[in-house]
Formats: sequence, structure tokens, C-alpha cells
Amino acid sequence: MTETDVRRATPTETAPVPEPEPHPVPEAATPSDVRLAEVDLLVERATDAAREFRTLDQQQVDAIVAAMVRAGLRAAPQLAELAIEETGFGVFEDKVVKNYVATEFLGDYLHDRRTVGVIEEDAEHGIVRIAEPIGVVLAITPVTNPTSTVLYKAIVAAKTRNAILFRPSPYAVRCCERSVEILREAAEAAGMPPGALQVVPDSERAVTHHLFRHPLVDFIWVTGGPKIVALANAAGKPGLSVGPGNAPVYVHRTADLSGAVVDILISKTFDASVICPAEQTCIVDDEVADTMLAEFARMGAHLLTPDQVDLLVAFAFGSGDAVNMAALGQQAPQLAARAGFEVAADTKILLAPLPSDLDALAGHPLLREKLMPVLGFVRASSVEHGVAAAVLVTERGGLGHTSAVYARDPAVVDAFSSAVRTGRILVNAPTAVGALGGVYNSLTPTFSLGCGTWGGSTTTENVNVTQLLNVKTVSRRRTPPQWFRVPSTTYFNAGALDNLRDVECEVAVIVTDPDSETRGVIDLVRGKLRTSHVHVFSEVEAEPDEHVVRRGVELLDRVRPDLVVAVGGGSVIDAAKAMRLFHEHPEQQLDELTLPFLDPRKRMADFPQDPHTVRLVAVPTTAGTGSEVSPAAVLTVGTRKETLVDYSLVPDMAVVDPVLTLSMPPELTVDSGIDALTHALEAVVSIFASPYTDAFCVQAARLIFDALPRAYDDPGDLAARTDMANAATLAGLAFSNAFVGTNHALAHAVGARFGIAHGRANGIFLPLVLRYNAALPSKFMPAPGYSAYVAPDKYAQLGRVVFGGREPEESRRRLFRGVESLLDRLDMPRSLRAAGVAQDEFERALPELAMTAFEDLSNRTNPRMPLVRELSELLSAGFDGGVRDAH
Ligand SMILES: NC(=O)c1ccc[n+]([C@@H]2O[C@H](COP(=O)([O-])OP(=O)(O)OC[C@H]3O[C@@H](n4cnc5c(N)ncnc54)[C@H](O)[C@@H]3O)[C@@H](O)[C@H]2O)c1
Ligand SMILES: [Fe+2]
Repeated sequence: MTETDVRRATPTETAPVPEPEPHPVPEAATPSDVRLAEVDLLVERATDAAREFRTLDQQQVDAIVAAMVRAGLRAAPQLAELAIEETGFGVFEDKVVKNYVATEFLGDYLHDRRTVGVIEEDAEHGIVRIAEPIGVVLAITPVTNPTSTVLYKAIVAAKTRNAILFRPSPYAVRCCERSVEILREAAEAAGMPPGALQVVPDSERAVTHHLFRHPLVDFIWVTGGPKIVALANAAGKPGLSVGPGNAPVYVHRTADLSGAVVDILISKTFDASVICPAEQTCIVDDEVADTMLAEFARMGAHLLTPDQVDLLVAFAFGSGDAVNMAALGQQAPQLAARAGFEVAADTKILLAPLPSDLDALAGHPLLREKLMPVLGFVRASSVEHGVAAAVLVTERGGLGHTSAVYARDPAVVDAFSSAVRTGRILVNAPTAVGALGGVYNSLTPTFSLGCGTWGGSTTTENVNVTQLLNVKTVSRRRTPPQWFRVPSTTYFNAGALDNLRDVECEVAVIVTDPDSETRGVIDLVRGKLRTSHVHVFSEVEAEPDEHVVRRGVELLDRVRPDLVVAVGGGSVIDAAKAMRLFHEHPEQQLDELTLPFLDPRKRMADFPQDPHTVRLVAVPTTAGTGSEVSPAAVLTVGTRKETLVDYSLVPDMAVVDPVLTLSMPPELTVDSGIDALTHALEAVVSIFASPYTDAFCVQAARLIFDALPRAYDDPGDLAARTDMANAATLAGLAFSNAFVGTNHALAHAVGARFGIAHGRANGIFLPLVLRYNAALPSKFMPAPGYSAYVAPDKYAQLGRVVFGGREPEESRRRLFRGVESLLDRLDMPRSLRAAGVAQDEFERALPELAMTAFEDLSNRTNPRMPLVRELSELLSAGFDGGVRDAH
């Protein structure tokens, strides 16, 4: 069928609708090789042009775009007239408006928009985006907006430096060619490379297929019906296809009814409704339906009788899926006449009453897209009913496209928006003009409305330059900012305990271990508290488990204290941290909070961050764990140690009184002291180490090497105890921010499995892990803040402060030797065997131990990434006593 046939079409003639399928013309013989060779030449010209286009800068491109916009704007009426003449559809005045939108609105949107080279710079995040053209774009354009779509696509292509080849609907070839001619003349005069804007003007489907598969076509940009969208998507090339719509509009009883009627009439009569976002079915709340109908009638709508509906259905949709082309794009009186009935000459639209019952509605032939001034009218008994009817409309060919809701009640707008699956949801605005963007809202101006995957598109956006660019992201390396967090107050030195007198409280719970109670420490603490309402929970044994925590929580729940004082070693303080957490937040689950993580800043475990209702004061009686200032709490769960880590766990106050550590027997002094040394030596090489934490590590290590032997030899040496207490807390402040490493992972694994004290287990692995980290890693730890492998140097720096040495290697050697001498000097067991682990038991446990150590969170900040095999080797070396100092 030619375009003359379309115009002459009589009511009885039917033909497939051209909108969904721009190339429905019966195929002639397959195109000759000559014809395909001609097409190839066009594509090759486009390719050459694209190459040249890529060399232009933003200013040159903008000059071309400005020239095209001006030329298109001037030609708007001429092209509108041509479109009507060729297609026989639509309304002249509205086609002019469409052409204005495609030039003026688009030009306004593109003005000052960067599409060449650097288009975005984000200095803070180190991101630069550079725009590149795609190359050769094949553009399929529809019969409905035959000139505006061409103007729009040509200008968008120029702005993005792409060459574009138009393949227009066979019903709108001439007006496409004319549009291209006008633009090309202006664009080439302004510097556009010749060949960048062309038309492939014939209606042979085989030529379209040839182009779809053409190796020099880089991108297929389709505006058309479902068939051409599917064909384009099947071409196996990048592309963007947008298909037909079927827009529902829901009018809620709170809407401005007369405003809605005018909007809908503007929109439904716009270009005689040959525009895909136009309203197709209007769903109106029962309460206001009659008022709305009366207003429609007053403003020029004609309510169809059942007979007239039948006539219209038979005329427009009488032959199955195909729409009678003679029904498309006619104004209401002409359409009625063609369908075989008469309406007043000034009738604007035909309102077709449709059933409210959703099943009956689903089967109605007029529920589909009607590219003619015919609007379905459905009464809704509730918001749910109205929204369900709207959803039903979209499911008949309108998914992904456009919908509208008229309501003053924002809850109704929300309900509608969350239920309806369309790319655009217009609120209190006409869809036909509104969806194009820029007139009734701030949507991007477009003639290519993305329909999402629902409609075969890769986007739901209003397509514009963004989708026509290859954007390169230049991402600069970024070192994330770090932190140094410490508890609000730390009291230290002999007599620090007196500060408890200043702590406000009404009901206090002292958490401690059975021994402290017997040693009289608890009475000492109790005597300094301001309240006489003091409860004591003294069940915390070493290496506490979840059961003891649960019992503690029961007490806290019962007596509801405002203060918890943890008096004891790391075990007690850790247990108290967990008790406060689960008392304040009974809804929290231990296994959720100990979820593994790769980066503590991105982890999934979500600790409650609201202010505490219970203050926690930590009073350490050992000098080692640093738990009094740390965000960690280690609990034994079954045969494993699980670590809770979050700054919300940090005690509100630490009271580091060395007098309380005088009672420690030598073995405990050594175990806890070596734990502190391990903290300092792991934090200093951590991938999170910073100048802040380094300072604490160095000072802690210096004090420990000096004071620990003295405290060991003479438990009553208060000066040594003071240095050790302070050193342990300093090391705690360091690892609270830099965290620990693989040494702790190994110690946690064997400590839990064989019941070896934490510090003792650390000591067994310390010489091994120092050497392991100082060696060339088999696998590096990816860490943005850790660009060179500095662990060996960090050991050397610390070693020089404590032991001197001229060369880094010498300082490092002295440090390692110093550690081993210290361990020997303190009579520490240097192997798991010496710590009492039986060989067969160890060998049986080894594979599981290696996995447990691998999963331990402490590894996350180790400078080298431990492989399971390496952990297994370290464990075995630890069993046998590993390397003795070979220096
Ligand atoms: N939260 C953290 O940041 C952190 C860091 C490292 C270790 N830890 C954990 O801390 C625990 C080890 O703590 P620890 O080394 O302090 O030992 P501990 O708390 O397990 O105490 C060991 C034993 O020493 C006794 N004791 C404590 N103080 C005493 C004193 N002054 N005089 C006599 N006896 C005393 C205790 O009653 C207990 O029986 C381990 O569970 C470890 O995993 C926690
Ligand atoms: Fe530790």
C-alpha cells in the first residue's frame, strides 16, 4: 500500500497498522546485489564521516547543533505539512508543535551540555568521565512522528558526534528525506563532515535486515512497533529500541476534575492521537464519574452509544490484530463518519464506556492502544480497583511506556506509582505532550521513550544524548580517609581507681571473675562507687562463652543498672561489653553481628548506634589485652573464637590502675604482657596502620621490652607494673584503630581448640609471623592505603627505636632477636608441643585449624594475604617450635 492508498482508504479497507511495523510493505524481489552495494557505500560514507566527526571539539559540535536547531525550527511548519500530506495522519498545528519540541526544546536542553571529551569531573572521588561517540547509528523512525523524530534523532546524533543513517517508515520516506536535507545543508555549512547524516530511502525489508547485520553499523536506534523492536533486538548488535504504548490514566476523586478533563482533551486530540504516549483509557472513581462525564461532554467529548462502540470496533479493529489504517490519526467527526455514524462537527474525542469488571475489561477490544481520538472510560469502585484497571491497560501493550494519575492525595499517587510498571508516570498532567518532556515537567525532551525490559528497551528513560555516548570513566586511585578513635576518658597510674568516686550512678553491676571476688578487689571497687545499689556478677571465667554472657544479660535485665563496672582481665571486660550490648539490644543476634567482612567500613553486620542507656567502665586487672579501650570483644562459640568489633563496644571510661595488677602471678603477667606486645607488633604493620597508631605501637613496644622482665622477676615492682599497664593500654589504642593480623588469627584458632591462654598462644607464633610478614609475600593484600610492601621497613623503624641498629636490616634483626630473647627470658613455651598439645591431636586438628585461622577477621588487616597452605605451615611450625633464631 502506498501513501496515496492510505489517504484514499475507505471505511471497508483494512491494512496492518504502520506504527508497530514500519516495513510492512509486501516484499518485492530480494534486493539486487547492486542495491546492496549502494547501501554499503552509504554505510562506508557514514563510517568515514564518523571518523572525522570524532576529531571535532565541543565548540565545533555546538555550532553544528545550533545551526541544525535553527534550520529545523524554521522548517517546522513546512515539514508538518509534508508529513500530513504524505502520511494522511494527524493535525497540522500539532505536528508543528512536535517539530518545535524536537528543535527548540531539544536545543534548549542540549545548550551548554558537555558531550565531547571530559564531560564530568569529580575531584573528591577522583572520577573523570570522557565522552566518546558510538560511530554509525542506524535510526528507524515511525510514521506517527515522521518529521519530529527525524529532527530529534539527527540533532542528538550530531551533538554526540555520531554519523546517523535514517531508515524511515515506508509511509513517511519523503518527509524524512526533506527533514534530513534541510538539516544537512545547515549542519554541513557549520562544519559537519559530509556523510554524517543520510537516509536509506526504500521500503525493502531485506535492506533493513542487511543494515541490521552490517558490520559497519555500530548501533541500532529504533522507534517503532513491537515487531521491529524484536527484529532489532535480535540483530545481535548494541542498540536501543522503544516500542508502542497503551497509557492508562487514573482520575481519583480528589483530583481537579475540570483541569483533568482539559488536560486529557489537549492530549488525546494532540495530532489526532498518533503519538504513542497518548491517553488510551481513562479510569475514574465512581463518586466523580458522572461529574467527569458531564464535564467531558461540556468540553466537546462525545459519549459513544453501545451501537456506536460496536461500529467503531468493527471498523478500526475488525480484522484481528491488524488495525485499519483508515482509522488512524483522523479527527473525531471524520473517524465517526468512516465508522458509519455521525457526531457533532466540533466533537473533540469519542468516549467509549468500557466495563468496570476487570475480567470483562480484559477481553474488550478497545482496551488496546488506539492511535485515534478514542478514549476508553472505566468506572472504578475504589483506589485498588482503579489501580488494578490501570495495570490491566498497561499489560495490553503498554508496559514500560507511559501512564498518568490525577489526584490531590499523595498517598494515591504513591499507590499508583508503585503498582504501575511504566517508565514515565505523569502526575496531574497530559501524557501525550507531557511524556515528551520539557512542556509540563522537567523530563528530558525526547521522541524516543524508553520502555524498559518490559517493552524490549534497555532503559526506561527519555532517551537523549546520554544513551548515544560511550562514556569512559577515568578512576584515580583513592586512599580512603582513616580515623583514630579512642574512648572519652582513660585514667591511669596508681590511684586511678579513685576516679570511680566521680561516676554518677544509681544502680551498678560489677562484672568480674570468681578470683577477683576472693582477692578483695570487688570490695575495693564497691567502696568507691557512689551508690549502695551494687550487684556483683562474678561468673566470668577465662575465655568467656555465650552462656556466661546470657546469664549476665539476665542479671542486667533484672536489676536495670545505669552503670556496669567490668573489673578483671580481658575475659571479663569482653564479656561485659557483650552483656551491655545484648541487654540494651535483646533483638540482636550474635551470629549476625559476627558476620565476616572484607572491609570493616563496608561490612554487613549492623551494630546499633544509638546512645547507650548503661555506662560501661573498664577496670583491667591484667596488663595485656587493651580491651579497656578497644572496640573488640572475643567470645568462645563452640570450639571457635568469634570477635565482635564495633566502636559502640568501646567502654565509656577506662581506669588503668597498676595496683590491681600487682597480684598477677608471673605466668599471667607474661601471657598478658606478650599479648600486648603482639598487639603493638601487629598494629605497626597493619594495612590500616597510620602515623597515629605507629606512635602508640613504638612507645608500647619500648615499655614492654623494658618492663615486662622486671614485672616477671618481681611481681611487686610497681614501677614495672605501671609501665606494663600503660603499655598494654597504648597498644590497645593502636590496635583499636589499626587492628591486628595473622598472629592473632593463629592464636585464636589454637587457643580455642587446645585451651591455651590467649597471650601464650600469641607468643608461640610471634617469631614465626614476624618472619612471615617480613618475607616477600606470595600474595599481597589489596589495600588502597598500602601502596608499597612496607612491613619489613615498619619492623625496622620500630626495631631502631627500641634496639638501635644502623641499617634497617640490622634494626629488624635486632627486633626479631629481641622478641625471641624476651620469650626465652620469660620462660614462655616456644611451641604448641611445649604448651602441652599432643602430636596426634594436633595433626588431626590441623586442616580445620588452618581453615578456622583463615576465616578469622584478624587476617583482614595483615600486610600480606595468608594462603590457607601458609597458615597450615605456620601452624605446623608453631607445633614444633618453628624457627629458632638463626642469626
Ligand atoms: N577485646 C580485646 O580487644 C581483646 C584483645 C586481646 C585479647 N582479648 C581477650 O582477652 C582474653 C585474655 O585476657 P587476659 O589476658 O586479661 O586474661 P583473662 O581475663 O582471661 O584472665 C586470666 C585469669 O587471670 C585471672 N586474673 C585476672 N587479673 C588478675 C590479677 N590481677 N591477679 C590475679 N589473677 C588475675 C583471672 O581471674 C583469670 O582466671 C582472651 O579471651 C582474649 O581473647 C581481648
Ligand atoms: Fe590479643
